[in-house]
Amino acid sequence: MKLTAQQLKNKIKPILGKNHNDPAMLVSILQDTQTELGYLPRKALAEIHKELNIPLTQVYGVATFFKAFSLEPRGRHQIQVCMGTACHVRGAEKILDTVERELGIMPGENDKDLRFSLETVNCVGACALGPIVIVDGDYAGEMKIDKVKPLLKNYK
Ligand code: FES
Repeated sequence: MKLTAQQLKNKIKPILGKNHNDPAMLVSILQDTQTELGYLPRKALAEIHKELNIPLTQVYGVATFFKAFSLEPRGRHQIQVCMGTACHVRGAEKILDTVERELGIMPGENDKDLRFSLETVNCVGACALGPIVIVDGDYAGEMKIDKVKPLLKNYK
């Protein structure tokens, strides 16, 4: 859903208020904005820059520094396929192929309904359970090709 400039202002204002309009709270402001809007639209960053009277480069600097922030719309569910060495030797490539085929997207993309975003990660510290797929922070270990579809079905 695309917001008008006024609707966007109406969403940002209470977030700034909650954070005392304090530029030192920029990370928290960006977190709250992303929670509210699902991502950080460029217009929202411009609004924050204007309202807090801080340089736009500073707002972008923080928004692009943390991996948790996204300047693009993201799916409702985040899928990560581990491609670290241990998962790789246990067949992570085939799992990733299957996820890509099921969703019709490549890592770094969202599906067309914005249900899923897909990315690859390198070793999440659970190598013994590889290959691993993580959905919204939940680990699915010892993945097999035929487990991919049922796993994705759990997420609407
Ligand atoms: S390589 Fe996948 S968890 Fe370590």
